Amino acid sequence: MRPVIYLDHNAANPPDPRLVAVFRAALEAGWANPSSPHGPGRRARALVEAAREQVAALLGVAPGQVTFAASGTEALNQALAAATTSGGRPRVVASAVEHPAVLEPLAALAAAGRVDAALAPVDPAGRVLVEPLADLARGAALVALIAAQNETGVVQPLDTVGRVCAAAGAPLLVDASQALGRLPRDWARAPWDLLVVSGHKLRAPRGAAALVHRGAPPPPLVRGGPQELGRRAGTEDVAAIAALGAACDLVRRGELLDPAALLALRERLEARLLEAVPGLVVVGHDAERLPQTVALLVPDGDSEALLAGLDLAGVAASAGAACSSGSLVRSHVLDAMGVDEARARGRLRLSFGPETTWEELATAADALAGLARRSRPCRR
Ligand SMILES: Cc1ncc(COP(=O)(O)O)c(C=O)c1O
Repeated sequence: MRPVIYLDHNAANPPDPRLVAVFRAALEAGWANPSSPHGPGRRARALVEAAREQVAALLGVAPGQVTFAASGTEALNQALAAATTSGGRPRVVASAVEHPAVLEPLAALAAAGRVDAALAPVDPAGRVLVEPLADLARGAALVALIAAQNETGVVQPLDTVGRVCAAAGAPLLVDASQALGRLPRDWARAPWDLLVVSGHKLRAPRGAAALVHRGAPPPPLVRGGPQELGRRAGTEDVAAIAALGAACDLVRRGELLDPAALLALRERLEARLLEAVPGLVVVGHDAERLPQTVALLVPDGDSEALLAGLDLAGVAASAGAACSSGSLVRSHVLDAMGVDEARARGRLRLSFGPETTWEELATAADALAGLARRSRPCRR
């Protein structure tokens, strides 16, 4: 079988061997129930608490401010539900380019009459517009902001939004799933009141995420046991939690990955693509973006055909968002940025990681350029 050039890291990263080793060791040493008071249980508990300390150290909080969950999606659902605890119908604000893990639970809470949901618009580069956000944040129970967008890689003006939320007295929920570890930033000093980190986005095996709070602890979403200080019931996934903790430790020490090296690759890839494909658009070109993400609009292109062509050429890429049947859905992110449907049809996302070589990116770029040439209508 021909090796695949894997350019879909934003969907799933190949796990880092160091974290697979931690995961395996924790499976063997920590198989017991961490709530059991006997020796094997205590060994499992020690692994969970060591991971909690590692997450806490990265984010500059006490270990008791870290609640483990099974996925980033679950942690975000819990954070949003926390905004409803005061009763009434509080306003919850989210940027229009949040991940569905925020937008869908928010819509459900609004449909149930538990919150008034408001979406803050973004500029054509996908950055949230600060003035409308400031208006909406006044009196809001929560503002949710994706630190870096998974489809486009566009980084949000977090510091400005932090100031806006502080002035409005609105707690800020930051979805750092894609940004943490990939942006060179000190998350212990960043503005947030609730922050979500997802293990598999940090190259750990899937199965654990964390919801970290600076203010009031979030009430449980999953009930049925005293785990996680009563904030998340269910027997802990010790191995996945241990790997998430180790990933956070690598991020804190600057050893998970090298954002500058990824950025250099991204710039080279974009230059090659822009030269080879006339009319190609790099989404959010002039905005700060994740170093490993390139979102493209291929002129006259069709995502499904391009992805199939790339697949045949041995390149695994993505359109950025796909529904469960595998057929492509419209991108709410591109919609919010004002990209019309015709141009959005040609969208493609290439996302890579530390194991990706320049030769692989160049091969993928050339394959894409060939497909893009073929998708152009003949103009006489
Ligand atoms: C920005 C963002 N938020 C949240 C999630 C959901 O995280 P998880 O896959 O851990 O549920 C994802 C996953 O793709 C994401 O990219």
